[in-house]
Amino acid sequence: MRIAVLASGRGSNLQSLITHWRRGTLKADIVGVGSDNIKAMALEIADQAGIPTRAFPMESYESKKDQETDILNWLEELGVELLVLAGYMRILSKDFIRRAEYPIINIHPSLLPSFPGLNAQKQALDYGVKVSGCTVHFVDEGVDSGPIILQQAVPVYEEDDVKSLSLRILKVEHQIYPEAVRLIAEGRVKRQGRRVIIFRDS
Ligand code: GAR
Repeated sequence: MRIAVLASGRGSNLQSLITHWRRGTLKADIVGVGSDNIKAMALEIADQAGIPTRAFPMESYESKKDQETDILNWLEELGVELLVLAGYMRILSKDFIRRAEYPIINIHPSLLPSFPGLNAQKQALDYGVKVSGCTVHFVDEGVDSGPIILQQAVPVYEEDDVKSLSLRILKVEHQIYPEAVRLIAEGRVKRQGRRVIIFRDS
């Protein structure tokens, strides 16, 4: 399966996907990495791994529609079969989602449907939950609202701040995102409306 990754920043989830790909556990090829941020570490990580990269900085376009059209054309040229958002901090428009002919998945640092949107870890701490975690989901036309593929919980401790909680969640992100991509690439993930059925190894 040919996959492309969109990332805006640090790229630790991208790195974890690359590591699993190199180990041969992903059963998918990462054929391109794109970013809306020319300074994203994710682009450097991809470069070093020999993966073609492309930047789509908003400043270079007259509108978000033009930027998204460029991204869609690039993905089509790459022959992408799965688009993976890994810390891509822009909301894809409804038009983008409709025009994409492949599934799009995202990872979010909370147990959705709790705490969608920005600063999920801070939202969880402010709310006072005792358990948080991360979610891999299909992207639909809403914000962090698509069908859930995998989730993993982590405890929230009284002494936690945003940094410590984010780090604990990030560690499990690095496990469940490659796992989700592997399951999709192996054809083990089926959507039934809002529910996602996973056919695991028996
Ligand atoms: C990750 O924690 C990811 O879950 C989050 O951004 C971080 C990216 O880190 N994504 C979102 O909040 C999307 N709503 P990374 O660049 O090191 O992978």
